[in-house]
Amino acid sequence: MEKLVIEGGRELHGQVRISGAKNAALPLITATLLAKGVHVLRNVPDLRDTRTILRLLESLGVTWERQGHTLRIDATDLNCSEASYELVKTMRASVLVLGPLLARLGRARVSLPGGCAIGARPINFHILGFEQLGVTCRLEHGYVDAEIDGRLQGNTVYFDIPSVTGTENLLMAATLAQGTTLIKNAAREPEIGNLVDMLIGMGAEIEGRGTDLLTIHGVEELQAADTAVIPDRIETGTYLIAVAAAGGEATMTHCNPGHLPALLEKLRAVGLEVSGQDDEITIRALRQRPLKGVDIKTMPYPGYPTDLQAQFMALMTLSNQTAVVNETIFENRFMHVAELKRMGADIRIDGHTAVVAGLGRGGLTGAPVMATDLRASSSLVIAGLAASGRTEISRIYHLERGYENLVSKLSGLGARVWKTQE
Ligand code: EPU
Repeated sequence: MEKLVIEGGRELHGQVRISGAKNAALPLITATLLAKGVHVLRNVPDLRDTRTILRLLESLGVTWERQGHTLRIDATDLNCSEASYELVKTMRASVLVLGPLLARLGRARVSLPGGCAIGARPINFHILGFEQLGVTCRLEHGYVDAEIDGRLQGNTVYFDIPSVTGTENLLMAATLAQGTTLIKNAAREPEIGNLVDMLIGMGAEIEGRGTDLLTIHGVEELQAADTAVIPDRIETGTYLIAVAAAGGEATMTHCNPGHLPALLEKLRAVGLEVSGQDDEITIRALRQRPLKGVDIKTMPYPGYPTDLQAQFMALMTLSNQTAVVNETIFENRFMHVAELKRMGADIRIDGHTAVVAGLGRGGLTGAPVMATDLRASSSLVIAGLAASGRTEISRIYHLERGYENLVSKLSGLGARVWKTQE
């Protein structure tokens, strides 16, 4: 197994070209199941998770080829409706095949994902939503067996909590339903807007893009898509926080400043200079200027994203004040705390709240730490970049799920970072 070694304490300067968004690419890839023909998806990041979803599509009879960041996917010969435990257990987003399979084949058998490192993460909202569209769902032997006789039937679906993949799954299914579907309290993340644009390009009739009420008028058939994945806002945010923590000045290119409203305000509140225009964001972090302690509370978009909570907490360990981090989306998303403490951080957890007593810049010291999930791992990278001495992060396959070319992008900023065998 590989580990990541970081010699910390160096400022970061330069540019990072932001990749396509993992969490947009995954639903876009599964949406290709909705129509025959060759779909073209551009700006698709080459990540462990995108490779996993393509393996899953292959197992369903789909063929694909990749040229750089462009994927050509042909779902004409879709002939299987089962997503096995082997694939789903390695990536929960595999449940995103449920909606398209039901819409196209009228049946789907998908393994229940089970819990993961950040919480229980049930899929009950997805299932309730499909039942509203007339699907019969049975949970047997660890699988959801879903079936409908004839076409899906448009109906109103209400989410108790705005679920991102739940909204995506229902949205995809409803495009081919008979009649109109309303998704109320829909999630509003930019990745959903990306999916709506792709589906409209395929011939779907959808109103309410970017709002919590999506109206989908079902159509009989969709055509193959030609669309681009939006920039990864979480990758963008991770590099911005890395520069904030290590000090320096850098520009993120090919990103969308409009997709990070909460983070950019929080970074300014910390006392950093941040400016975003067109498709770039520049951050300037003077090491001699102390970082202020700033509280965050994770919320559905456009609130502060849970996927940037761990990274911001790492930054707050370096402030000169106390900061309160409140995680409201997932019940177990503080796995990074114990690892940050090994690097000297002073953090106390009380339920969904973590109180971070900042140590000031230079407060962290490098240590061997363990990655537990994707975003927790990136917070350890940030801590390692800011810490004095050497940090070794094991289990870096988590990072490879969601950060394209992490080592070369960080090296491009002047970081001393490399991979080596454990
Ligand atoms: N929830 C339920 N029942 C459901 C669905 C969700 O109780 O049927 C709960 C969840 O347990 C959670 C909340 O609702 O407490 C919101 O979860 P959501 O469904 O929105 O999360 P998700 O769709 O499973 C996506 C991202 C996550 C990101 C969350 C929140 C993808 C592939 N994954 O997950 O990304 O944290 O939305 O923004 O889009 C990551 O990239 O590291 C990652 C975990």
